[in-house]
Amino acid sequence: MIEAKLQVDDQIFVAEDNGKILGACMAGYDGHRGWLYSVAVYSDQRRRGIGQKLIRGAMEALQEIGCIKVNLQIRASNHEVRAFYESLGFSVEERISMGAFLE
Ligand SMILES: CC(C)(COP(=O)(O)OP(=O)(O)OC[C@H]1O[C@@H](n2cnc3c(N)ncnc32)[C@H](O)[C@@H]1OP(=O)(O)O)[C@@H](O)C(=O)NCCC(=O)NCCS
Repeated sequence: MIEAKLQVDDQIFVAEDNGKILGACMAGYDGHRGWLYSVAVYSDQRRRGIGQKLIRGAMEALQEIGCIKVNLQIRASNHEVRAFYESLGFSVEERISMGAFLE
């Protein structure tokens, strides 16, 4: 996935401490909206504010390239991740998410 992402842009963010990777996320900007995805912090490093720093860093980078709104998708059953994003100011917007494979 990283190689494919780098073909498009380099919006990959990594949290590290003395060379040890603690977490990472990806972002994208399509000229209209920004997107966040593949957000994860190692399980033994959670609840230390690393996820928040990652997302804030990614949002700042999106803002710097002209993005004014960021969207993301989470599973409806994932209440913990919803609480995480709500702690960062995100709110649920009623939409139907659709997708299709390009094959
Ligand atoms: C979601 C995730 C990235 C959060 O990373 P994190 O570094 O633990 O998050 P933070 O420490 O910055 O949490 C900030 C705040 O978010 C909320 N929060 C975070 N994890 C939470 C949980 N499991 N349950 C409830 N609230 C949570 C809390 O308000 C927390 O503040 P507090 O610790 O002072 O109470 C991490 O739990 C993770 O990697 N989960 C598995 C992967 C995943 O589901 N990714 C999302 C895919 S869309």
